[in-house]
Amino acid sequence: MRSTLLLALLPLATGQVLDWTATGGKLLQKRQSETGDGSQGDTDGTQADISQRPPPRFPFPVTKFPVAKETVVLENAFYVPAGATFDGGMKRFQRPEGSCNEQAEGTDADAVFNLLPGSTIRNVIIGKHQAEGIHALGDAWVENVWWEDVCEDALTSKGLNTQLRVIGGGAMNATDKIFQDNSLGGKYNITGFYAHTFGTFYQSCGNCLNQAKRNATIQNVVAVDGLRMGIINPNHGDEFRLKDSQIEGIETIVVKEIGNNVQTVPYFMGSGPDEKYALYNETRDSIVAFNGDVTNRYEPEDPYEWLEEFWPDGFW
Ligand SMILES: *[C@@H]1O[C@H](CO)[C@@H](O)[C@H](O)[C@H]1NC(C)=O
Ligand SMILES: *[C@@H]1O[C@H](CO)[C@@H](O)[C@H](O)[C@H]1NC(C)=O
Ligand SMILES: *[C@@H]1O[C@H](CO)[C@@H](O)[C@H](O)[C@H]1NC(C)=O
Ligand SMILES: *[C@@H]1O[C@H](CO)[C@@H](O)[C@H](O)[C@H]1NC(C)=O
Repeated sequence: MRSTLLLALLPLATGQVLDWTATGGKLLQKRQSETGDGSQGDTDGTQADISQRPPPRFPFPVTKFPVAKETVVLENAFYVPAGATFDGGMKRFQRPEGSCNEQAEGTDADAVFNLLPGSTIRNVIIGKHQAEGIHALGDAWVENVWWEDVCEDALTSKGLNTQLRVIGGGAMNATDKIFQDNSLGGKYNITGFYAHTFGTFYQSCGNCLNQAKRNATIQNVVAVDGLRMGIINPNHGDEFRLKDSQIEGIETIVVKEIGNNVQTVPYFMGSGPDEKYALYNETRDSIVAFNGDVTNRYEPEDPYEWLEEFWPDGFW
């Protein structure tokens, strides 16, 4: 396996096109007219319309991990500029060995990628050497991204009203959390993700300095061997929805806590569904057991032609 050391990739101006042929990766400037990717024109990127996107060109949820052919070691966190699309071509990206320290809460500088408002990260494998996976500093799309061994968190949402949309991909061995929402009043929409061995699938920050209602919508995921699918703060009005999903070996679907903004440990207040905050019903919302067979598959009409070589045993 070839290992590339990438140095001095920064700074990149917003919207700059970086032809990343040296490593096979690509950083593409998003042009609305060509990609049909929806509005990105707002000066406040956090208000970008995230509803109109072309259909994904990768299958989900896929319960096999891709096999990387190449590893890229980033000396510094990589910042995906506002409005840009970073396509990693299914390479493995990570930080230098010894980067993972589960005892310390990481900063943006400890992440592998930071996503600026309106950006997209796609077709990426995050390797085991990292403290933080991806930080989203504003609205972003995270598509077909795979975390091989999560250290602290896989994906953290930050900023004001940040809306994240995760489609496809997967995460393994998240001792702590996969999706963390530290934003003020943010939304997470997670579709077709595969999680194996984790503490918490989604966490609304229980003790951030600025707290507000957060909203998580999770559908069509496969989750195996985890402690909980969600931790939410009903006292801040959080909403959590889960539907059309297959789960196995999950201890609790939702844990409810009394969150605070003084950085103390939140109080446990209960678990299970209700009518206002933990909005799921296993029967009505088709939350069923996973027996190894993905029942609700998305197979793209126009798949990336090169993608299947990273799944030598097939997607399903
Ligand atoms: C899972 O994470 C733990 C804690 O970081 C680590 O010790 C272990 O090696 C990891 N296991 C795998 C299979 O990656
Ligand atoms: C969540 O994302 C999926 C996939 O893009 C989309 O179909 C769905 O409408 C979104 N839901 C919400 C509430 O935005
Ligand atoms: C949370 O998201 C759901 C869609 O999944 C939507 O119906 C609901 O209105 C949202 N709640 C808030 C407060 O935005
Ligand atoms: C869940 O939905 C089913 C079917 O709609 C209904 O019969 C049941 O009472 C609901 N359970 C709860 C706890 O609301």
